[in-house]
Amino acid sequence: MPRGLFITLEGLDGSGKTTQIRRLAAWLKRRHPDEDPVLTRQPGGTETGDRIRALVLDSGQTGLAPMTEMALMFADRAQAIAEVIQPALEAGRVVLCDRFTDSTEAYQGGGRGLGSEPVLELHRLLCGNLQPDLTLLLLPSLEVSLERARRRNQRTTEQNGADEGRFEQEQDGFYRKVWEKYREIAAREPGRVVLIEGDLSLDEVHAKIVEAVAARLVTQKMA
Ligand code: TYD
Repeated sequence: MPRGLFITLEGLDGSGKTTQIRRLAAWLKRRHPDEDPVLTRQPGGTETGDRIRALVLDSGQTGLAPMTEMALMFADRAQAIAEVIQPALEAGRVVLCDRFTDSTEAYQGGGRGLGSEPVLELHRLLCGNLQPDLTLLLLPSLEVSLERARRRNQRTTEQNGADEGRFEQEQDGFYRKVWEKYREIAAREPGRVVLIEGDLSLDEVHAKIVEAVAARLVTQKMA
């Protein structure tokens, strides 16, 4: 059986990834009922991963060293690959993953300043260098991205109950570095990463995503 199709969604906080991944899953189910996509996210997506997610996104968690943060992201990912992603791909299924190693490269490598090299090295070591077939990178202009991250930040502060705001508390300089690292990844790997830029409506972004995915499905079937 041919390997399934591994698709990841990437972008800054508030880029609309989560809405888009749900719409993409619904589109796939309608258009290709035989594909039955597996929807997952990082951090999280497994029982162990949900515990790591709670630890790493808890805004009360201070003093987490950047290296610890990176190690936790990879611990989560290694578990998700073993438990969810690899078995689904081996069964020939489409896997839609909300964030993957590009997030670690952008946030820990770029934002926290650890650099790309340790991230790529850990990916080889801990994730068998598993590469997505297609990565959809939603990247509005830096100004719009910062504005959305800020608005999210405010909302998180208002909602005292939801305690996943550790990254949303970061300042503009952090997000600028994340944004720049994402652009660097897109320029380095144009064959894998489809960059969806500009300040587009939800429908426009959805249309671009569907176009890219439909093209990959055709290539995969012909392979
Ligand atoms: P989440 O609530 O899923 O954010 P979003 O809806 O924007 O995807 O939180 C994930 C946060 O974790 C987000 O701020 C990015 C960060 N993150 C990293 O810093 N490194 C990583 O490797 C991953 C997967 C996420």
